[in-house]
Amino acid sequence: MTVITSLHELQTGRVNLAEPVGFVPTMGYLHAGHLSLVQRARQECASVVVSIFVNPAQFGPNEDLDKYPRNLSRDLEMLAGAGVDLIWTPTAEVMYPSDFQTWVTVEGLSQPLEGIVRPDHFRGVATVVTKLFNAVQPQKAYFGQKDAQQVAVIRRMSRDLNFPVEIIVCPTVREPDGLALSSRNTYLSPDERAAATILFRALSAAEAVFKNGERNADAIRGVMLEILQAEPLAQAQYVSCADYDTLDELKMIRGRALLSMAVFLGKTRLIDNRILEET
Ligand code: PAJ
Repeated sequence: MTVITSLHELQTGRVNLAEPVGFVPTMGYLHAGHLSLVQRARQECASVVVSIFVNPAQFGPNEDLDKYPRNLSRDLEMLAGAGVDLIWTPTAEVMYPSDFQTWVTVEGLSQPLEGIVRPDHFRGVATVVTKLFNAVQPQKAYFGQKDAQQVAVIRRMSRDLNFPVEIIVCPTVREPDGLALSSRNTYLSPDERAAATILFRALSAAEAVFKNGERNADAIRGVMLEILQAEPLAQAQYVSCADYDTLDELKMIRGRALLSMAVFLGKTRLIDNRILEET
């Protein structure tokens, strides 16, 4: 397991990797969700590259860039034994030199949901993932369903820009009580942590009414909102029932729908989602 920082070392190391190369981009402070992507890459690829980079371009001016949790030695311990060939930990100077001026924008899919409250977020994600793909040149790249809109944006970008990378989406890894693992869970107080299961409970309740035949999207959103509103520590920012492919809000569910939400527990903002599908 080689840990490298410069682009030059990455490119030199990449030449010797057996293909297919599987790539797992992360912002570090790793947990079992990240490791599930690494394991999948290990199963499917001859070599595995992981990047750890807290990407300033995807944080808004009033977001948590400065306090985003970082612990490289802990991350490296977690990755030891996971069969990773190369770990790339570029610095902000490597990724965004002072004369940097090129951005990748996925226009439509970046706008709804997270895009309404985090206007430049997906421009930052699409740009950094482009740079990471160009540097690592993977055959397959692994992303979590936990960030459903990110997956939609990256898929669209890869198709639109002809990236020769297969995008592989892995299921959300959860705590036993249903809370989706997230580096940001570390911000939660014990009370907020207990209340944070509300996202999973709201999604599960919505899925239950869907399975009972409900197809009206307002009714489904209503089920989620009612549950969220019953938790005094939770403040819903948005609750959505959207078309899985376009992310447009639905009136009636036909085909695949994406339920998603952003909820504040105190100052911590958590997101979660569930795919609804006719069986
Ligand atoms: P980060 O939040 O560190 O997540 C890295 C990858 O892990 C993403 O693909 C994310 O969806 C996945 N992931 C996070 N929590 C998960 C969980 N509970 N189960 C399964 N997968 C999970 O997402 C980013 O970083 C950044 O936006 C990045 C793509 C690295 C670009 O900067």
